[in-house]
Amino acid sequence: MTHILIVGSGVVGLATGKGFAKKGHDISYCDINPQTIERLRSQGLRATLTHDVHWDTIDVVMLCVSTPSVEGRIVLDYIEAAALDIGRGLATTSNYVTVVVRSTVPPTTTERRITPILERASGKRAGYDFGVGMNPEFLRAVTSEQDFARPWITVLGASDQHTAELLDRLYASFGALIVRCTPTEAELIKYVNNVYNAVKISYFNEVHAICQKLGADSNLIGATVARSAESMWNPLYGTRGGVPYGGACLPKDTVAFMQFVQEQGFEHMMLEATIAVNESLAAMVPAAPSPDKIEDILEVVRQQDDMAVEELTLELGKRPSVIL
Ligand SMILES: NC(=O)c1ccc[n+]([C@@H]2O[C@H](COP(=O)([O-])OP(=O)(O)OC[C@H]3O[C@@H](n4cnc5c(N)ncnc54)[C@H](O)[C@@H]3O)[C@@H](O)[C@H]2O)c1
Repeated sequence: MTHILIVGSGVVGLATGKGFAKKGHDISYCDINPQTIERLRSQGLRATLTHDVHWDTIDVVMLCVSTPSVEGRIVLDYIEAAALDIGRGLATTSNYVTVVVRSTVPPTTTERRITPILERASGKRAGYDFGVGMNPEFLRAVTSEQDFARPWITVLGASDQHTAELLDRLYASFGALIVRCTPTEAELIKYVNNVYNAVKISYFNEVHAICQKLGADSNLIGATVARSAESMWNPLYGTRGGVPYGGACLPKDTVAFMQFVQEQGFEHMMLEATIAVNESLAAMVPAAPSPDKIEDILEVVRQQDDMAVEELTLELGKRPSVIL
C-alpha cells in the first residue's frame, strides 16, 4: 500500500484520490481552500490544509492544482506556490518521496520550473533524495471518476528509475495502454492531444458550414470520415514528423476543394493553413511516398490494441514505406 498525498483537491485531485483509494492505497487530501477541506472531511475523507501535512508517512505526492489561462497567458503561480509548500515538506522527512505533476502544464515546466523549486525549498536533490514525474490526466470533468477508473491510455513521464518503477506499479492494474517517457514528452502528449482535438473540431465546424450551404448532412459526412479517413484508423498515418504530404491525391485534392469552397463564397481557414504548412515544408523536405502495401498497414492496425507504443515505434522504424 502506498500513501498518496493529493495536493489540490478539485476535479482531478478527487478523481485521482478516489481512484487510488479503490485500489487499496492510503489517500490524504490537501488544498489551500478551507471550505474544500471542510467539505472533504464531511464526506469522511482525510483532508488538511497544506501546512498541516505530516510528511513522515507520505510516499507519493500527486500535484493536481489549477493552471488557468488568463488573458492569453497560463498562470503557473498556483502550481509554483504548491511546489514551494511541497519542497518545504520534503525538507522535514527522511522518506524518499516522489512528486508527480498531474496538472496540465507547458512542456518543460516539470523539469525546469517545478523541480528547481522543490530542490531549493527542500535543500535536496531530485533523483537522489526525492523523485519527480509527470502523469497527465485525460479525464473529462463530467465523468471524472469513471474516466480515471477506466483510462484508455496512461502516460508515465519519469525523471528517474525509482519514479518510473513506482508509477508502473501504481498504474499496472488499470489495464490501459502504458506510454513510458520523459516528463517533457508527457507534457507534450497532453497538449498535442488537446490541440489535435481542437483542430479536428474546428475543421469539422468549417465543413459543417459548407455542408449547410449545399444542403448536405454534416453529421453523416463527419461520422463517415471519422471511419474512412486514414489518419483516424491507421496509427502510422501522418505521424512521422517533418514529412510533408505528397503522392497522387492529397496535394491535388486539397487545392481542388479549396477552389470549390472559395467559389461557394466560403473561407476555409483550416484548409488554407494546411496547404500553406505543407507547401513551406515541401520546399525543404521531399514528400513521402503514398501508401503501398495495404496488407502491412492493416496488420499494424489489427495489432494496435495489444501493442505498446514502444513496439509501435519499432514498427514505424521497420516499415518506413507504409507511412503516408
Ligand atoms: N477538469 C478536467 O476535466 C481536467 C482534465 C484533465 C486535466 N486537467 C488539469 O488538471 C489540473 C487541475 O484541474 P481541476 O479541474 O481539478 O481544477 P480545480 O479548480 O477543480 O481544482 C484545483 C484545486 O487546486 C487547489 N489549489 C490551488 N492552489 C493550490 C495550492 N497552492 N496548494 C494546494 N491546492 C491548491 C484549488 O483550491 C482547487 O481546489 C489543471 O491543470 C487542469 O488543466 C483538468
